[in-house]
Amino acid sequence: MSKNSLEHLAIIMDGNGRWAKNRGKNRTAGHKKGAEVVRDITTFCSNHSTIKTLTLYAFSTENWKRPKLEVEFLMKLLDNWLKNELDSYQKNNIKFQAIGDITKFSAKLQERILETQKKTKNNMGLTQVLALNYGSRTEIVDAVNRSINQGKTIITEDDISDNLDTPYSDLDLLIRTSGEKRVSNYLLWQLSYSEFYFTNTHWPDFTTKELKIIIEDFKNRNRRFGGV
Ligand code: FPP
Repeated sequence: MSKNSLEHLAIIMDGNGRWAKNRGKNRTAGHKKGAEVVRDITTFCSNHSTIKTLTLYAFSTENWKRPKLEVEFLMKLLDNWLKNELDSYQKNNIKFQAIGDITKFSAKLQERILETQKKTKNNMGLTQVLALNYGSRTEIVDAVNRSINQGKTIITEDDISDNLDTPYSDLDLLIRTSGEKRVSNYLLWQLSYSEFYFTNTHWPDFTTKELKIIIEDFKNRNRRFGGV
């Protein structure tokens, strides 16, 4: 018997580098394969009966600390990926949305992101959110400041929820791949009542088969939201 409806799924896609290293390849090979997995998982979610939002951590505010060449590779991969995905977004009725401070990216990449958002904004199926140069504490502080700018003197939970960048403030399930058991400044407000699932699988090896198993596990969890 399934009890829980999964509407908002978020994933910390971790382990690209280790996947590549285990195969004697450059770290960038892991990111390339990882991007293919993003496509498979997004298509699966867009065909799923209850999932409305898929929020993926693609680049954190800390990822700038990586070697320059790796950062450049990730930027280029993202640009190409968005260019190639547009057809699939339209075909599958997927709305693309970015969260995070994209003003630190090149003008070309910013334009690609904004253009993809604009072209897909009327799609009513799955919303795929990519967290890009995203940090959750910054998102919360920004939400508080927006509330103050709206004239609020006492800030409520609703004020913050309404002013977050993420389209849904509540998260149902957070998955992190590659065996790390950390949240890494991701969706801290949204995960208040979320379920967690940590898998040892590195992101490039993650499959829709494993996602189905995780969703079954989620459905059988006893979510009480603080009640009895
Ligand atoms: C973590 O692996 C992954 C990232 C830093 C970014 C995620 C990027 C992708 C899945 C590919 C690009 C995505 C899109 C949407 C085009 P890691 O490098 O931290 O792995 P490690 O912990 O093994 O070093």
